[in-house]
Amino acid sequence: RSDFALRGGRPASVLVLGAGVAGLACAYELGKAGYECTVLEASDRVGGRSLTLRGGDTVTELPLGDGAGEAAGGVQRVTFGEGTYFNAGPARIAQWMVTLDYCRELGVPLEVFVNGNSAAYVLTDGMKGPVRVRTARADAYGYISELLAKAADGGALDARLTAADKERLLDFLSHFGEIGPSHAYTGGERRGFRVNPGVGPGAELGAVPSLTEVLSQGLGRVLTMDAGYEQAMPMFQPVGGMDAIVRALARQVGDARIRTGSRVTEITTTPGGVEVAVEGGPPLRAQYCVAALPPHLLARIPGNLGADVKAALAAASPLAAGKLGLEYGRRWWETEDRVYGGATETDLDVGHIWYPSYGFHGRRGLVVGYYNTGADAEAYGALTHPRRLRRALAQGRKIHGRKYGEDLLASASVSWQRQPHIEGAWVRWTSPAGVRLLQRPAGRVYFAGDWLTHLIAWQAGALESARKVVTELHHRVLKEA
Ligand code: PHE
Repeated sequence: RSDFALRGGRPASVLVLGAGVAGLACAYELGKAGYECTVLEASDRVGGRSLTLRGGDTVTELPLGDGAGEAAGGVQRVTFGEGTYFNAGPARIAQWMVTLDYCRELGVPLEVFVNGNSAAYVLTDGMKGPVRVRTARADAYGYISELLAKAADGGALDARLTAADKERLLDFLSHFGEIGPSHAYTGGERRGFRVNPGVGPGAELGAVPSLTEVLSQGLGRVLTMDAGYEQAMPMFQPVGGMDAIVRALARQVGDARIRTGSRVTEITTTPGGVEVAVEGGPPLRAQYCVAALPPHLLARIPGNLGADVKAALAAASPLAAGKLGLEYGRRWWETEDRVYGGATETDLDVGHIWYPSYGFHGRRGLVVGYYNTGADAEAYGALTHPRRLRRALAQGRKIHGRKYGEDLLASASVSWQRQPHIEGAWVRWTSPAGVRLLQRPAGRVYFAGDWLTHLIAWQAGALESARKVVTELHHRVLKEA
């Protein structure tokens, strides 16, 4: 059963530029309604940023600046073992996202992606060493509850609280912070144990830090990562790799309709159709076009879409992000650290470290050694892969110790700002005015992508945009019939 369908009408021909999630979804939905689609993709693979790396794949990166030294473009040959995969782009799907509807419609099996794990660690600039999420949370909630309870009890909040409110607040805080009748936080079982409960008595984790120490840890960001609407558990991932979604879309569209290695060099809209020039081949014509390329690349393609459209596209500023996959021959994070999936949040330049949500207790496993953005991603992106690896391993040792550098079988990294035909992880708009213009077609050329939605950097954004654009295109075709 199909969640979304265009009804009635006379199918037309459409050129779709870009075989990322948005382009493939446009071709899929138009194809369901009988449209004649051709998808042009500059690179030699479909999926765009929805990239899953496995053994045998290669990663090619663009040179930086003058192409000298470390900035020279590099090629990595991925040597992960059988069954290991690395989602170098999108990796998690929230329950409310339309991406799950496409998984259901396309028969892509799902499993839980562990986004938050109280057994993982936090490490901020204000901390001397890593602390389990559960311990940091117990201390933070405990002291916050103590402060608030004492303030309420001492009458400091009487202007805001009725007597009944105060009673209820104190009751809430006794649970929230696990504070006793004295309202003092003194630690508790939520912090975890050095020796887990069993037949003998459990031994509580070390000494409780002082209020001043806890406040100096700066835990606000790292403890609330999975509270966001987009990041709340449970989250999901396709079994076997995120690219299962783009593979399923491409299968439905059909190989014959997808032309990889076809870089668009000019886009011309005319009263009766669209003409698209392709490097090394004859120009292609159709009645309509959907341009589903990154806006900063689209802005560079010559054509007659208009100076205002060009300026609007150029207002999209690409952001840097990078990920490193570390394949180990031993799942030490499970057997030694007892961390089964989830993320360690840090203030280090690696950003987040992710533990795999699949293959528990297997012989190998893939840890994401960094997932960073902005200046950190630019710094790692400017390095060759071996230097990225060395730097990330040194950071990871700060959390996991020596074992982080041992039993490593293979690794691969992707710097999204250096990916050919992509050149950015996602965009930020420097001027919102242009976005409104690009929501409408330029002549017979429509625009689609996550960059046109409130879900930038999510496949769901690309899919929502695709649905909107094909609906508008279809209504126009119906009207012009
Ligand atoms: N969707 C990406 C992720 O989940 C990027 C992103 C992060 C977007 C946080 C919004 C909020 O990592």
